[in-house]
Amino acid sequence: MARKTKRIGFIGYGQIGMTVHQMIDRDQANGMEVVFVHDMASERLKDLPDDLVLQDLGDFHSRDADLVVEMAHADVTRQWGTTILAKTDYLFISVTALANQDLEQDIQQTTYQYGTRAFIPHGGVVGMDALLENRDVWEEVHVTMKKPPKNVDCAAAGVDPESITKETVLYDGPTRGVCPLFPRNTNTLAAIAYAGIGFDRTHSTLVVNPQWDTATVAIHAHGGGIELDVERVEGITGVTGASTPASIYNTVQMIGSSGPGIHLR
Ligand SMILES: NC(=O)c1ccc[n+]([C@@H]2O[C@H](COP(=O)([O-])OP(=O)(O)OC[C@H]3O[C@@H](n4cnc5c(N)ncnc54)[C@H](O)[C@@H]3O)[C@@H](O)[C@H]2O)c1
Repeated sequence: MARKTKRIGFIGYGQIGMTVHQMIDRDQANGMEVVFVHDMASERLKDLPDDLVLQDLGDFHSRDADLVVEMAHADVTRQWGTTILAKTDYLFISVTALANQDLEQDIQQTTYQYGTRAFIPHGGVVGMDALLENRDVWEEVHVTMKKPPKNVDCAAAGVDPESITKETVLYDGPTRGVCPLFPRNTNTLAAIAYAGIGFDRTHSTLVVNPQWDTATVAIHAHGGGIELDVERVEGITGVTGASTPASIYNTVQMIGSSGPGIHLR
């Protein structure tokens, strides 16, 4: 039986990158092989074999990856997205990058020019399929994200999370505006906007409270005689919800796995 192994390159080896790597390696039959790992913090890579470490991301094409997966920061897509897509397929999990309309257009255009594909994962979005499939009928999509302030990177917004002592609304408005203010925390909001009715029409509310120890995403969409309500509450470490690493692995294997088995799509 002929089976081509898919070569996967990693950018970002933090909480998600490390876990997804373990998950790929754990299943020998999935038909995927990690061929490079890049992280701007070299100490993150000290336990990896030398031949897996890619010090200079500019050399990524030397590893001949079929798919490059960003699990680092939206800056990576700004700096490298089109360069990568001129050579190979690219999955970027820091979806807030797409709130920049010029970048979104550049990515689209590059994929058409070079015949490559860009992917975004559903990540923290439960029900992305329903949002996407009915994107032409929704009259309104409203998302409320609730988190403890210590798990929100407020640097770009100029807010000190330590100073927040009670329930506080950090943002309430179109999703396009929240992404640059909290780029590491609003990937789920960005993915909901992109899947459904867009960054300008999707309304997002970001609320923090130091009494909370979980992260909540509540989606409400209605239109065309359909009401959709989805809410997930989960533990959170750093900027990442408990369910995210497994969700990202699932997306990587949906795109990259060439192994046997019954595949859900
Ligand atoms: N799509 C989703 O649902 C979703 C959910 C959670 C997190 N995320 C995003 O995924 C990314 C990774 O999350 P995490 O919890 O693993 O974070 P983390 O902080 O644990 O790890 C990020 C890693 O990326 C590296 N990095 C950061 N900027 C870089 C750059 N410009 N170039 C190279 N390396 C860089 C850091 O050194 C670090 O090792 C973040 O951007 C986060 O916002 C997306």
